[in-house]
Amino acid sequence: MRRDMGEHYQRLAGSYDDNWAYSPAFVEWMSAEIARSLSLRAGDRMADVGCGTGLFAKGIVAAVHPRQPVVCADPSAAMLEQLGESESLLPLPASAEDLAERHIALPFEQADAMWLKESVHHVRDPARTLAGLAGLLAPGGRLLVAMLPATIEYPLFAEALRRYEVLQPDPSRIVEHLGAAGLRSELTYVEHELRLDTERYLDMVRSRYMSVLSTFSEAEIEAGIAEIRSRFPGPEVVFPDRFAFVLGVREGSSAGGAR
Ligand SMILES: C[S@@+](CC[C@H](N)C(=O)[O-])C[C@H]1O[C@@H](n2cnc3c(N)ncnc32)[C@H](O)[C@@H]1O
Repeated sequence: MRRDMGEHYQRLAGSYDDNWAYSPAFVEWMSAEIARSLSLRAGDRMADVGCGTGLFAKGIVAAVHPRQPVVCADPSAAMLEQLGESESLLPLPASAEDLAERHIALPFEQADAMWLKESVHHVRDPARTLAGLAGLLAPGGRLLVAMLPATIEYPLFAEALRRYEVLQPDPSRIVEHLGAAGLRSELTYVEHELRLDTERYLDMVRSRYMSVLSTFSEAEIEAGIAEIRSRFPGPEVVFPDRFAFVLGVREGSSAGGAR
Protein backbone atom coordinates (compact mmCIF):
# COMPACT_ATOMS: atom_id res chain seq x y z
CA MET A 1 0.00 0.00 0.00
CA ARG A 2 1.30 3.48 -0.75
CA ARG A 3 2.67 5.15 2.37
CA ASP A 4 0.25 8.10 2.20
CA MET A 5 -2.72 5.73 2.02
CA GLY A 6 -1.25 3.65 4.84
CA GLU A 7 -1.13 6.75 7.02
CA HIS A 8 -4.62 7.77 5.89
CA TYR A 9 -6.15 4.45 7.05
CA GLN A 10 -4.00 4.37 10.18
CA ARG A 11 -5.60 7.72 11.15
CA LEU A 12 -9.10 6.79 10.03
CA ALA A 13 -9.32 3.24 11.44
CA GLY A 14 -10.61 4.14 14.91
CA SER A 15 -13.44 6.34 13.65
CA TYR A 16 -14.26 4.49 10.40
CA ASP A 17 -17.21 2.50 11.74
CA ASP A 18 -18.60 5.54 13.58
CA ASN A 19 -18.91 7.25 10.21
CA TRP A 20 -21.41 4.63 9.16
CA ALA A 21 -22.83 3.63 12.52
CA TYR A 22 -25.62 6.22 12.18
CA SER A 23 -26.97 4.13 9.38
CA PRO A 24 -27.11 0.43 10.15
CA ALA A 25 -29.75 0.36 7.42
CA PHE A 26 -27.09 1.32 4.89
CA VAL A 27 -24.70 -1.40 6.04
CA GLU A 28 -27.50 -3.97 6.00
CA TRP A 29 -28.64 -2.86 2.54
CA MET A 30 -25.13 -2.88 1.05
CA SER A 31 -24.26 -6.26 2.60
CA ALA A 32 -27.48 -7.74 1.19
CA GLU A 33 -26.72 -6.28 -2.26
CA ILE A 34 -23.22 -7.82 -2.22
CA ALA A 35 -24.62 -11.18 -1.08
CA ARG A 36 -27.33 -11.07 -3.77
CA SER A 37 -24.97 -10.07 -6.56
CA LEU A 38 -22.49 -12.82 -5.64
CA SER A 39 -25.30 -15.39 -5.09
CA LEU A 40 -23.61 -16.17 -1.78
CA ARG A 41 -24.46 -19.42 -0.07
CA ALA A 42 -23.46 -20.65 3.38
CA GLY A 43 -21.06 -23.26 1.96
CA ASP A 44 -19.06 -20.78 -0.14
CA ARG A 45 -15.39 -20.10 0.56
CA MET A 46 -15.38 -16.32 0.76
CA ALA A 47 -12.80 -13.53 0.86
CA ASP A 48 -13.35 -9.81 1.38
CA VAL A 49 -10.31 -8.16 -0.25
CA GLY A 50 -9.62 -4.72 1.19
CA CYS A 51 -12.12 -5.47 3.97
CA GLY A 52 -11.12 -2.46 6.07
CA THR A 53 -12.73 -2.76 9.49
CA GLY A 54 -14.92 -5.64 8.33
CA LEU A 55 -18.13 -3.63 8.54
CA PHE A 56 -19.60 -5.25 5.44
CA ALA A 57 -18.04 -8.69 6.01
CA LYS A 58 -19.92 -8.67 9.32
CA GLY A 59 -23.11 -7.67 7.50
CA ILE A 60 -22.59 -10.54 5.07
CA VAL A 61 -22.00 -13.00 7.91
CA ALA A 62 -25.30 -11.87 9.45
CA ALA A 63 -27.10 -12.28 6.11
CA VAL A 64 -25.56 -15.54 4.84
CA HIS A 65 -24.27 -17.41 7.95
CA PRO A 66 -21.19 -18.85 6.19
CA ARG A 67 -20.11 -22.25 7.41
CA GLN A 68 -16.44 -21.27 7.37
CA PRO A 69 -14.91 -17.94 8.34
CA VAL A 70 -14.88 -15.15 5.78
CA VAL A 71 -11.27 -14.27 5.00
CA CYS A 72 -10.84 -10.56 5.67
CA ALA A 73 -7.74 -9.35 3.80
CA ASP A 74 -6.37 -5.83 4.17
CA PRO A 75 -2.85 -4.34 4.13
CA SER A 76 -3.69 -1.87 6.92
CA ALA A 77 -3.04 -3.42 10.32
CA ALA A 78 -4.94 -0.55 11.96
CA MET A 79 -8.07 -1.25 9.91
CA LEU A 80 -7.82 -5.02 10.48
CA GLU A 81 -7.52 -4.47 14.24
CA GLN A 82 -11.05 -3.08 14.20
CA LEU A 83 -12.43 -6.48 13.14
CA GLY A 84 -12.46 -7.60 16.77
CA GLU A 85 -12.69 -11.24 17.81
CA SER A 86 -15.09 -13.29 15.75
CA GLU A 87 -15.17 -16.95 14.81
CA SER A 88 -16.82 -15.94 11.56
CA LEU A 89 -14.01 -13.66 10.35
CA LEU A 90 -10.43 -14.61 9.60
CA PRO A 91 -8.14 -11.56 9.44
CA LEU A 92 -5.37 -11.74 6.83
CA PRO A 93 -2.81 -8.92 6.61
CA ALA A 94 -2.52 -8.85 2.81
CA SER A 95 -3.16 -6.55 -0.11
CA ALA A 96 -5.02 -7.53 -3.26
CA GLU A 97 -1.61 -7.68 -4.94
CA ASP A 98 -0.22 -10.04 -2.26
CA LEU A 99 -3.04 -12.48 -2.95
CA ALA A 100 -3.01 -12.03 -6.72
CA GLU A 101 0.74 -12.59 -6.95
CA ARG A 102 0.52 -15.55 -4.51
CA HIS A 103 2.87 -13.83 -2.04
CA ILE A 104 0.31 -14.59 0.64
CA ALA A 105 -2.02 -17.57 0.39
CA LEU A 106 -5.70 -17.83 1.15
CA PRO A 107 -6.48 -20.57 3.68
CA PHE A 108 -8.23 -22.53 0.91
CA GLU A 109 -7.03 -23.57 -2.51
CA GLN A 110 -9.80 -21.87 -4.45
CA ALA A 111 -12.43 -19.31 -3.58
CA ASP A 112 -16.12 -19.47 -4.47
CA ALA A 113 -16.68 -15.76 -3.91
CA MET A 114 -14.44 -12.74 -3.48
CA TRP A 115 -15.32 -9.11 -3.32
CA LEU A 116 -13.49 -5.81 -3.29
CA LYS A 117 -15.74 -3.12 -1.90
CA GLU A 118 -14.31 0.34 -2.39
CA SER A 119 -10.75 -0.93 -2.41
CA VAL A 120 -9.99 -1.34 -6.13
CA HIS A 121 -9.02 2.34 -6.45
CA HIS A 122 -6.01 1.55 -4.23
CA VAL A 123 -4.74 -1.17 -6.55
CA ARG A 124 -1.88 0.08 -8.71
CA ASP A 125 -2.32 -2.23 -11.70
CA PRO A 126 -5.95 -3.34 -11.65
CA ALA A 127 -5.73 -5.39 -14.88
CA ARG A 128 -2.89 -7.53 -13.54
CA THR A 129 -4.16 -7.79 -9.98
CA LEU A 130 -7.74 -8.64 -10.95
CA ALA A 131 -6.42 -11.31 -13.34
CA GLY A 132 -4.40 -12.77 -10.45
CA LEU A 133 -7.44 -12.76 -8.17
CA ALA A 134 -9.61 -14.29 -10.91
CA GLY A 135 -7.08 -17.13 -11.04
CA LEU A 136 -7.93 -17.95 -7.42
CA LEU A 137 -11.58 -18.64 -8.25
CA ALA A 138 -13.00 -22.14 -8.32
CA PRO A 139 -15.08 -23.14 -11.36
CA GLY A 140 -18.35 -21.22 -11.01
CA GLY A 141 -16.59 -18.79 -8.66
CA ARG A 142 -17.58 -15.10 -8.56
CA LEU A 143 -15.57 -11.93 -8.13
CA LEU A 144 -17.37 -8.66 -7.38
CA VAL A 145 -15.82 -5.21 -7.60
CA ALA A 146 -18.15 -2.81 -5.79
CA MET A 147 -17.01 0.75 -6.37
CA LEU A 148 -18.21 4.30 -6.62
CA PRO A 149 -19.05 5.37 -10.18
CA ALA A 150 -16.92 7.67 -12.31
CA THR A 151 -18.92 10.68 -11.04
CA ILE A 152 -20.76 11.12 -7.74
CA GLU A 153 -23.47 13.45 -6.46
CA TYR A 154 -22.15 13.79 -2.92
CA PRO A 155 -22.58 17.13 -1.12
CA LEU A 156 -18.82 17.74 -1.22
CA PHE A 157 -16.99 20.92 -2.19
CA ALA A 158 -16.30 21.43 -5.89
CA GLU A 159 -12.56 20.75 -5.85
CA ALA A 160 -13.08 17.45 -3.97
CA LEU A 161 -15.57 16.30 -6.61
CA ARG A 162 -13.19 17.32 -9.39
CA ARG A 163 -10.23 15.55 -7.83
CA TYR A 164 -12.38 12.49 -7.18
CA GLU A 165 -13.20 12.25 -10.89
CA VAL A 166 -9.51 12.36 -11.77
CA LEU A 167 -8.54 9.63 -9.28
CA GLN A 168 -11.45 7.22 -9.53
CA PRO A 169 -11.04 4.30 -11.96
CA ASP A 170 -13.85 3.93 -14.50
CA PRO A 171 -16.05 0.87 -13.80
CA SER A 172 -16.23 0.08 -17.51
CA ARG A 173 -12.45 -0.47 -17.48
CA ILE A 174 -12.92 -2.93 -14.63
CA VAL A 175 -15.46 -4.82 -16.77
CA GLU A 176 -12.79 -5.06 -19.48
CA HIS A 177 -10.17 -6.26 -17.00
CA LEU A 178 -12.42 -9.03 -15.68
CA GLY A 179 -13.32 -10.05 -19.23
CA ALA A 180 -9.63 -10.16 -20.16
CA ALA A 181 -9.06 -12.34 -17.08
CA GLY A 182 -11.41 -14.91 -18.59
CA LEU A 183 -14.49 -14.11 -16.53
CA ARG A 184 -17.99 -13.44 -17.86
CA SER A 185 -18.39 -9.89 -16.64
CA GLU A 186 -21.24 -7.43 -16.30
CA LEU A 187 -21.79 -3.96 -14.87
CA THR A 188 -24.90 -2.97 -12.92
CA TYR A 189 -25.63 -0.10 -10.55
CA VAL A 190 -27.30 -0.11 -7.15
CA GLU A 191 -28.47 2.99 -5.35
CA HIS A 192 -29.50 3.95 -1.85
CA GLU A 193 -30.68 7.36 -0.64
CA LEU A 194 -28.54 8.73 2.17
CA ARG A 195 -30.12 11.24 4.54
CA LEU A 196 -27.68 12.60 7.07
CA ASP A 197 -27.59 15.28 9.67
CA THR A 198 -25.52 18.02 7.99
CA GLU A 199 -23.21 18.45 11.00
CA ARG A 200 -22.60 14.73 11.11
CA TYR A 201 -21.70 14.72 7.44
CA LEU A 202 -19.35 17.66 7.93
CA ASP A 203 -17.63 15.75 10.74
CA MET A 204 -17.14 12.88 8.31
CA VAL A 205 -15.61 15.26 5.78
CA ARG A 206 -13.38 16.65 8.54
CA SER A 207 -12.24 13.11 9.40
CA ARG A 208 -11.53 12.63 5.66
CA TYR A 209 -13.91 9.69 5.41
CA MET A 210 -13.13 9.38 1.70
CA SER A 211 -9.51 8.85 0.72
CA VAL A 212 -9.69 11.69 -1.84
CA LEU A 213 -10.14 14.06 1.12
CA SER A 214 -6.74 13.04 2.44
CA THR A 215 -5.22 14.94 -0.49
CA PHE A 216 -6.35 18.27 1.08
CA SER A 217 -4.65 20.24 3.86
CA GLU A 218 -6.45 21.16 7.11
CA ALA A 219 -7.05 24.69 5.81
CA GLU A 220 -8.42 23.40 2.51
CA ILE A 221 -10.78 21.03 4.31
CA GLU A 222 -12.09 23.86 6.52
CA ALA A 223 -12.59 26.07 3.43
CA GLY A 224 -14.33 23.14 1.75
CA ILE A 225 -16.61 22.70 4.77
CA ALA A 226 -17.54 26.39 4.60
CA GLU A 227 -18.37 25.92 0.91
CA ILE A 228 -20.54 22.87 1.68
CA ARG A 229 -22.36 24.83 4.44
CA SER A 230 -23.22 27.64 2.05
CA ARG A 231 -24.42 25.26 -0.65
CA PHE A 232 -26.38 23.03 1.77
CA PRO A 233 -27.65 25.31 4.56
CA GLY A 234 -30.37 22.91 5.78
CA PRO A 235 -30.17 20.56 8.80
CA GLU A 236 -29.86 17.50 6.57
CA VAL A 237 -28.07 16.50 3.41
CA VAL A 238 -29.89 14.04 1.18
CA PHE A 239 -28.15 12.43 -1.75
CA PRO A 240 -28.04 9.24 -3.79
CA ASP A 241 -25.23 6.85 -2.88
CA ARG A 242 -24.77 5.01 -6.14
CA PHE A 243 -22.43 2.08 -6.59
CA ALA A 244 -21.14 0.31 -9.65
CA PHE A 245 -21.18 -3.47 -9.22
CA VAL A 246 -18.84 -5.22 -11.63
CA LEU A 247 -19.39 -8.96 -11.39
CA GLY A 248 -17.09 -11.53 -12.97
CA VAL A 249 -18.04 -15.21 -13.10
CA ARG A 250 -15.72 -18.08 -13.90
CA GLU A 251 -17.39 -20.60 -16.21
CA GLY A 252 -18.08 -24.07 -14.85
CA SER A 253 -20.21 -25.37 -12.05
CA SER A 254 -19.21 -24.97 -8.47
CA ALA A 255 -18.08 -28.06 -6.64
CA GLY A 256 -19.85 -27.06 -3.44
CA GLY A 257 -22.54 -29.75 -3.64
CA ALA A 258 -25.27 -29.38 -1.03
CA ARG A 259 -24.98 -25.92 0.38
C1 LIG B 1 -12.47 2.79 1.60
S1 LIG B 1 -11.77 1.50 2.53
C2 LIG B 1 -13.00 0.24 2.28
C3 LIG B 1 -13.01 -0.77 3.37
C4 LIG B 1 -14.18 -1.77 3.31
N1 LIG B 1 -14.14 -2.59 2.12
C5 LIG B 1 -15.49 -1.01 3.38
O1 LIG B 1 -16.18 -0.90 2.36
O2 LIG B 1 -15.80 -0.53 4.48
C6 LIG B 1 -10.45 0.93 1.52
C7 LIG B 1 -9.63 -0.21 2.13
O3 LIG B 1 -8.73 -0.69 1.11
C8 LIG B 1 -7.52 -1.03 1.77
N2 LIG B 1 -6.45 -1.09 0.77
C9 LIG B 1 -5.52 -0.15 0.46
N3 LIG B 1 -4.68 -0.62 -0.49
C10 LIG B 1 -5.11 -1.86 -0.80
C11 LIG B 1 -4.65 -2.87 -1.70
N4 LIG B 1 -3.60 -2.66 -2.48
N5 LIG B 1 -5.30 -4.06 -1.72
C12 LIG B 1 -6.38 -4.27 -0.93
N6 LIG B 1 -6.86 -3.34 -0.07
C13 LIG B 1 -6.24 -2.17 -0.01
C14 LIG B 1 -7.35 0.03 2.82
O4 LIG B 1 -6.44 -0.36 3.83
C15 LIG B 1 -8.78 0.20 3.30
O5 LIG B 1 -9.05 -0.64 4.40
